[in-house]
Amino acid sequence: MAGRFRITGAVCLIAMLIASCAPSDPPSGLDVGREVYATACSVCHGNSGQGVVGPALSQVALTWPDCADQIRWTTLGSDRWRVEVGDTYGATAKPVLGGMLPQEGLLTPHQIAAVTAFTRVTYGGVDGATALDDCGVAGS
Ligand code: HEC
Repeated sequence: MAGRFRITGAVCLIAMLIASCAPSDPPSGLDVGREVYATACSVCHGNSGQGVVGPALSQVALTWPDCADQIRWTTLGSDRWRVEVGDTYGATAKPVLGGMLPQEGLLTPHQIAAVTAFTRVTYGGVDGATALDDCGVAGS
């Protein structure tokens, strides 16, 4: 009997710890985005978003005031963007120079939205809750 109480007590303690830790954990949409960024984007955009063959990502919030447009860009990549949207991209009308790979088929729509939110927060300085909400990955 005493043994069973001890086990029950331990389980409750663990449950309480998990419950009390949850609110301070980072939102999971950003965790997904961080992982995707490291595996699918950093080779061209740099480990800190500083740019390598792809541009630095510090201006993403200015280039893309609306997250949905940035998601579309990342989904299509340079070549399909040129065909489907035009020769410039973003609110600052940057010329499409080529070289951004389409992520459609490589990543799920959720992964694309999550990595987009991650870049907006980590490199673009957008508030976490705002970016997750705009990009449609809040609470996921
Ligand atoms: C093979 C290299 C490569 C990979 C991999 C890559 N990119 Fe790019 N990216 C580029 C290049 C090159 C451009 C500029 C394209 C152009 O001008 O047509 C670009 C442009 C961008 C832009 C526009 C930035 C701005 O403000 O001008 C964003 C946002 C972006 N990439 C996000 C991503 C994300 C997110 C990933 C990973 C899912 C990714 N890229 C993977 C090469 C890459």
